[in-house]
Amino acid sequence: MAQLPIQKHPNLLVGYETSDDAGVYKITEDLALIQTLDFFTPIVDDPYAFGQIAAANALSDVYAMGGQPLTAMNIVCFPIKDMPKEILKEILRGGLDKIHEAGVILVGGHSVDDPEIKYGLSVTGIVHPDRILTNKNAQVGDALILTKPLGTGVLATAVKGNLASKEAIKKLIEVTATLNAKAAEVMRSFHVHACTDVTGFGLAGHLLELARASKKEILLWSHKVPIITEALDYATMGLIPAGSYANKYFCESLVEIAPNIPTLTLDMLFDAQTSGGLIISLPEAEATECLQKLHLEGVEEATIIGQVVSNHDHGRIKIEP
Ligand code: CO
Ligand code: CO
Ligand code: CO
Repeated sequence: MAQLPIQKHPNLLVGYETSDDAGVYKITEDLALIQTLDFFTPIVDDPYAFGQIAAANALSDVYAMGGQPLTAMNIVCFPIKDMPKEILKEILRGGLDKIHEAGVILVGGHSVDDPEIKYGLSVTGIVHPDRILTNKNAQVGDALILTKPLGTGVLATAVKGNLASKEAIKKLIEVTATLNAKAAEVMRSFHVHACTDVTGFGLAGHLLELARASKKEILLWSHKVPIITEALDYATMGLIPAGSYANKYFCESLVEIAPNIPTLTLDMLFDAQTSGGLIISLPEAEATECLQKLHLEGVEEATIIGQVVSNHDHGRIKIEP
């Protein structure tokens, strides 16, 4: 899109250029529209679970912007002549259950006959124009909270290779199908400066985007980062998704890595996530209370993983043991 003539508009509050989670368009002084679209190929074999995961992932971008999702539309590709319709029905049922759990209304959708299954949602939400959370306003002195453990990319790779245990698949579904709704609800009562969700670029990649957009230096305490135990096992076996190597390569020049960090830990920090947690940047003084509230609301693996330490021209991150 960078090479195409995208139009600017005074009401467009968040557009293409900031690599944010969703677009935001102001309707009135106290109401802005959030729009996002996400869909992908199955990461698990269970069609119902895949539907749940894809929907939770798509809804997440509205939560990451500080918004409330209102309506959704299905986007689905399916080999309708070659596969039982029952599978399609299960995917859509999984999606619908998540949509309803989020308090959202399904208003339509579109399907295409395609040899490769893909499913996701286009989601529309609302936010007060003064309360939009992007990745560009992190402040020096902020603490950074991550709300879900890492490792779903490695687990999805294990599933693809038919190597994942039942427990690992269960954990993968549990983490990725969890809505970021509770985390978003909790953060609303704190002075959150910036937020994004962790997806394809991995934790380090998304933190780097936050650092660059906010022009800050960020410290990431790698030993604090919650990691799914099963994912560590599979990463030891070398089951690292290709996207994670790309993430590492892409970030290298702007990330300073302390010399004594285990390769395994680094692999997890760059692991491409599906439907990952939120990164919440808020004043250090509020971080402990926010964390307690998150735990109380069932966001049990939320952890303080780092801090925003100083201003920086381009933004960068330092990964510490
Ligand atoms: Co996102
Ligand atoms: Co997205
Ligand atoms: Co955002």
